[in-house]
Amino acid sequence: MRAFPVIAALLLLASGASAQDLPAGPFTAAQVDAGRTAYIDHCMMCHGARLQGLGEAQPLVGKDFVDLWGHDTAAELYTSVRIEMPQNDPGSLSDDVYLNLVAFLLHANGAKTGTAPLDAKSAIKIETIVTGTASADVAAGLKSAK
Ligand code: HEC
Repeated sequence: MRAFPVIAALLLLASGASAQDLPAGPFTAAQVDAGRTAYIDHCMMCHGARLQGLGEAQPLVGKDFVDLWGHDTAAELYTSVRIEMPQNDPGSLSDDVYLNLVAFLLHANGAKTGTAPLDAKSAIKIETIVTGTASADVAAGLKSAK
């Protein structure tokens, strides 16, 4: 399993040049990793292992995500998710976990990992950092560790 992030990074590089042209995203690798785990535990049962959406729960990746969130800031996504999700228990997670989840969603949509942690005031517009192409880990399907 240790090799997986390397493979994922190689696949991402192979998937197109556009990701390289983007500025670094306003979040860290640690936030993405923690957010991935939180997604698997709290979101995947409704939104799917590839973030593809299931039933009423819409896709959180690709064109659907960019159409819905592209014009908003990372802070706005954070606020919405914190107030509305998980749908069966909204607001039940800590602020840090919600930030990690947003970092993971940005990563999942092709945003580049950066060095500064995401915070609740991030005014960066989502369409300026995502490609809309699913990251390799998400495209391959997430797996619960349990
Ligand atoms: C019990 C099922 C369920 C779970 C668990 C769940 N969602 Fe959702 N989610 C939905 C449904 C249904 C919608 C669409 C209707 C709505 O917006 O309430 C949705 C919509 C969304 C949206 C779209 C925008 C919005 O806020 O309206 C986002 C983003 C989102 N979910 C993220 C998450 C994240 C992140 C988690 C994990 C913390 C999560 N969801 C957990 C069912 C779920």
